[in-house]
Amino acid sequence: MRKLVDKTLVVASHNAGKIREIRDLIGPLGFQAKSAADLNFVEPEETGTTFEENATIKALASARASGLPALSDDSGLAIDALGGAPGVYTANWAEREDGSRDFAMAMEKVEQELKEKGAMAPEERTARFVSVLCLAWPDGHVELFRGEVEGQVVWPPRGTSGFGYDPVFQPEGYATTFGEMSAEEKHGWKPGDATALSHRARAFKLFAETCLGA
Ligand code: IMP
Repeated sequence: MRKLVDKTLVVASHNAGKIREIRDLIGPLGFQAKSAADLNFVEPEETGTTFEENATIKALASARASGLPALSDDSGLAIDALGGAPGVYTANWAEREDGSRDFAMAMEKVEQELKEKGAMAPEERTARFVSVLCLAWPDGHVELFRGEVEGQVVWPPRGTSGFGYDPVFQPEGYATTFGEMSAEEKHGWKPGDATALSHRARAFKLFAETCLGA
């Protein structure tokens, strides 16, 4: 395991919601972070079929372009009744023909597919959010960290916090969706805490413990 000694890194993302969450998570650890979007890096094509492959593609592209360590996140929602879909294609389900993203439309599509499967009872709507973080260095070394959170897909969407599919995901043991939680509640983690809630915070906890000794 390689430790991260630099206190400057690139957040290898163009997704404003993810950049905000990663900044929230690394901020307390004293990092300066620029995003691939701030640096006008071209968004690499996500040609992998696993979260690990796509996270690696994104982190390596930013590390090589910047000469700095880069941290990426590849994430998605895996719904059991849909055979794990949308999975690595979670962002694609929100894509409109003009290339823009519409998450209200994506959540409707999920609901439509669940209806077609007759999956209406809570126990038939189990799902997990997955986040794989990749830390890559300009010399090509990478470290990968996976976090998952179990829950269920609810309908109608609830809450306006967060991003993406947050309003339809209710984590196990909670009565609120991620869309109804503050950022602090959704992450459920700060350096030194024993547990974390969101998939991204769980992956981040592993990253912090492994690469930063936090
Ligand atoms: P990608 O990792 O860029 O391929 O995109 C993953 C997609 O999964 C995002 O665009 C979001 O729609 C969704 N997603 C990932 N993490 C979260 C989350 O924490 N809340 C809501 N949606 C998420």
